[in-house]
Amino acid sequence: MKEPFSEHEFAIIPTVVTGNQEMVVVQFLKTAIELLKEARTLEETQEVWQKVNALEALSKKFRLNKEVQLDATELRIRIERRLGEILSQKSESREEDIKKQNQNSSNIYWDSVDSKNVRANRSFTKNEWSKFQLLASTSHELFEAVITDLRTEAAINRQTALSTTGILRAIRNEQKKDREPLFSPIIKPSDNWNFSTIHYGRIDEKAGEDRGYIPGEIYANCFWYYVKPGDLVVAPMAGSGQVWRVYEARQEWMGQHVYDFKLKMFDLTPRGKYKDLITQHDLTKSFPVINPDYIIIDIPYYGMVAQQYSNKSEDLANMALENWQLAMQAISNNCAAVQHAGKLCTVICPNYRDVAKGLIVMIADKIRLLWESAGYILYDKAYSSRRIQQNQTPNMARMNNHAKANRIMLTDITEILTFRKL
Ligand SMILES: C[S@@+](CC[C@H](N)C(=O)[O-])C[C@H]1O[C@@H](n2cnc3c(N)ncnc32)[C@H](O)[C@@H]1O
Repeated sequence: MKEPFSEHEFAIIPTVVTGNQEMVVVQFLKTAIELLKEARTLEETQEVWQKVNALEALSKKFRLNKEVQLDATELRIRIERRLGEILSQKSESREEDIKKQNQNSSNIYWDSVDSKNVRANRSFTKNEWSKFQLLASTSHELFEAVITDLRTEAAINRQTALSTTGILRAIRNEQKKDREPLFSPIIKPSDNWNFSTIHYGRIDEKAGEDRGYIPGEIYANCFWYYVKPGDLVVAPMAGSGQVWRVYEARQEWMGQHVYDFKLKMFDLTPRGKYKDLITQHDLTKSFPVINPDYIIIDIPYYGMVAQQYSNKSEDLANMALENWQLAMQAISNNCAAVQHAGKLCTVICPNYRDVAKGLIVMIADKIRLLWESAGYILYDKAYSSRRIQQNQTPNMARMNNHAKANRIMLTDITEILTFRKL
């Protein structure tokens, strides 16, 4: 094979190409591409690498056009990938030989690198060879995507250089992304939203007091299933702002599909560490925002939380059943008044059972009737444990015995009812 240029010719490039270095380097790069196509052995490929490496150095030294510099670097990296491929093939065939000869195979890699042929022409360090092999082991698609991205970045950003190390780093990052689970385990695949460990427990934890607070995971699942990117979401009974904590941490539970939406919070009695983000508002009077895409309401559980949030008479937690129902009716109408057809509204509600009084109130059914008469239809339903039974305290055992004796079950489930505006 006749070489279109020799080592010697490369050596004189700086002196002969005064004024027109760019054209000459471009021409030499084209020739190198042709040479690479014809190169079959490690030594031939390595020779082309040496020439391109010299061209790359020249293009930088003479500060040639950025594109020419990048052409040279890109070609050099591509040759390194090719060298890695050849080396890997050699390793494989040597491995085969070794297996055949039933020899000790512990040093296959370096044996092959140091094999007679390679040693004869070796100008690379062990570290460089291993980089080339890493380049070679990357899939064609990933390598092409990364080299294109980094080249584009290097072309527009002076701070970024195209380099073998940079390419390998980007490849590692992409591979790491691939290993990240597509979806978070916090998001449940079925309508049974029970969480073995609670990641977003109640914010103002007080020992022994866990009534009325849903695990934040319920908000995460509602957002996942019912909120689209860019939506305006309103939580009009946000209390201590658990909803905000979950919203803020969306990169934790959105897996590889993180997206943005807007969240506005209101409550009759804002409290807790997110208090300043929650606007005081009585939901029985009106809905505080127009055209919300999605409303999520964690209602005060009738009869279970009296005086827990405030001592205000307009606090639903403090109302008798009749007033509570009237207040919920007003709330369902207020939601319907501001939502357009097709928009969703979720109400999180457990049923109420009073063991001492022998009382069972089917709150979820009442909510459904109210929302349907306000102009919604039931769109979806999920269930989640309130984890009351998880507290294996003496008090819990006493309550359980009481419930069994009075033949009134305790309520452990919250229903998550989602309505669609007609
Ligand atoms: C079950 S709690 C919501 C707790 C909430 N998920 C949190 O993270 O703290 C019900 C909330 O409804 C609020 N509330 C009661 N009556 C209200 C009314 N008339 N208007 C607006 N909010 C009300 C209470 O202050 C309470 O914060």
